[in-house]
Amino acid sequence: MMCMRRHVHVVAFALAVAGVLTTLAADKPVVVCGTAGNYTANSAYQGNLRLVAAGLPTNISTSPGLFATAENGAEPDRAYAVGICRGDQDASACQACIAPTFKDAQDLCPYNRGATIFYDTCLLSFSDRDLLLSPTNSNDEVMRLYNAGNITSDVVSQFNAAVYKLLDAMVEYVETIDSVRRFATGTIGFDATYPIIYSMVWCTPDLTHGQCRACLSATVAQMPYTFIPNTQGATITGLRCSVRYEVHPFYKGVTMLQLTGTSPGVLIHSWIFPFCFAN
Ligand SMILES: *[C@@H]1O[C@H](CO)[C@@H](O)[C@H](O)[C@H]1NC(C)=O
Ligand SMILES: *[C@@H]1O[C@H](CO)[C@@H](O)[C@H](O)[C@H]1NC(C)=O
Ligand SMILES: *[C@@H]1O[C@H](CO)[C@@H](O)[C@H](O)[C@H]1NC(C)=O
Repeated sequence: MMCMRRHVHVVAFALAVAGVLTTLAADKPVVVCGTAGNYTANSAYQGNLRLVAAGLPTNISTSPGLFATAENGAEPDRAYAVGICRGDQDASACQACIAPTFKDAQDLCPYNRGATIFYDTCLLSFSDRDLLLSPTNSNDEVMRLYNAGNITSDVVSQFNAAVYKLLDAMVEYVETIDSVRRFATGTIGFDATYPIIYSMVWCTPDLTHGQCRACLSATVAQMPYTFIPNTQGATITGLRCSVRYEVHPFYKGVTMLQLTGTSPGVLIHSWIFPFCFAN
């Protein structure tokens, strides 16, 4: 199982994975419009959504975890929303990211009863159903992006071995974090061309450590089946947790977990991997 993970060219499951698959554009939001239908102007749902939209962004940016939820109104027109900023942001950066989210989402999904919008440093989702019933990411509200830059072909398997060594360690590490922000950054050394691989993981702070770990593990496990094998970076972000790696720095602040790299020569045992998925 561990070895299959590293076999990023095993694409048998790729078609089963739905969702956005494009290149990273930090300044442009990615939106996923809901499928539950539209509301009409001056409806009860619109009124409920407006109240949520008026108060939630400030509640997100002023909460210590940069995370908040809101709900308002009576079923079946009750409006639910949730948003979070990345844990390396401060309150004002969070506010700047989160403030336009309702308007942007509604512009991009006009009159839709649900939408999820992802920015580089925050995300917001609203719906006519409770978005946080599950402690794992839902495929209906998830963003999958990869970097347009490719790794030099002759180090792809070593590169992926290093990436997943780092991401596996990050999943373990985040479980040890006792902070209102369930957020971690980490690096691993690689080679002369890509000296450092950077990564970031986070969960919503309302999850237990075990739920956070389960969400992150499931997300890391999806990555090889979701992206091209030679991409320089990739992210899967949902309402519950997020995993990202890149060959360039992309977060603020200190790196919390620093792993020394294994030189590609020492990773020669990766040649045994083909036997791992023969069955
Ligand atoms: C919802 O509204 C949008 C924009 O007005 C429209 O394009 C879409 O067809 C509508 N969807 C449904 C299910 O009515
Ligand atoms: C924002 O937080 C305040 C204080 O906890 C609360 O009264 C209010 O209902 C919240 N707003 C929303 C939209 O949830
Ligand atoms: C990157 O590799 C993929 C195949 O994995 C290929 O389709 C794509 O064209 C490559 N991009 C560049 C910029 O070379």
